[in-house]
Amino acid sequence: MRYSVANWKMNLPPEGIAAYCAALAAAAGDGPRLVVAPPFPYLHEIRGLAVAGQNCAEKASGAFTGEISAAMLRERGAQFVILGHSERRTLFGETDAQIARKLAIALENGLTPILCIGEDLNVRDSGRAEAFLADQLKAAAAGVTNGGDVVIAYEPIWAIGTGRNATGKLCAETTQAVRESVRRFWPERYENVPVLYGGSVTPDNVTELVAEGEIDGFLVGGASLDSGKFLAIHRALGKE
Ligand code: PGA
Repeated sequence: MRYSVANWKMNLPPEGIAAYCAALAAAAGDGPRLVVAPPFPYLHEIRGLAVAGQNCAEKASGAFTGEISAAMLRERGAQFVILGHSERRTLFGETDAQIARKLAIALENGLTPILCIGEDLNVRDSGRAEAFLADQLKAAAAGVTNGGDVVIAYEPIWAIGTGRNATGKLCAETTQAVRESVRRFWPERYENVPVLYGGSVTPDNVTELVAEGEIDGFLVGGASLDSGKFLAIHRALGKE
């Protein structure tokens, strides 16, 4: 299964949610699956498309002001949840252990986690990126507690929102390394886990990124706020 995931972050599409969803729904055919991750209050406004939460709590319920549980996301129609996004890790201090707990609770509640992993520029430049990503996957594996599906998004931090994206070659090589780590650290049933790429993906660079034929889709931030740009990226993935 391949995916095009729109991560709106704390933004809304300028064209309006209804128009945005209608444009995407009209294009959803036999291509990769279209998933939209809006801010929490808008989950129920996403019509005709698969829905993802942008995060969930590591606890089932209780006195956790400002948190949203995996069960609540389900109840609001989400089938997916983005976990471990680098903005959660770096701006909000989420740890590997917390992310593993979130994975476990998401899976228990029937959500498909979209697990984000990615290295910063120091790690990339020091040549340790693949080992770093393997460690992130190994830590997350502690939370993989049942047979639900998991999607991985490789998002190098140096490419997120910076306009600097990975080359097709680097992206393909790293994706292969991620698959190898999944085989090492995760149960056998995850051998065919989809691996997406994210980080300044636009209609202008998508052709190079798909050329190597390695990646299973995209997690798109900035360019996903415009239905036309997001669909141009989606179409570059071709048919399923
Ligand atoms: P970007 O964000 O496409 O704006 O770089 C990607 C992401 O953070 O998921």
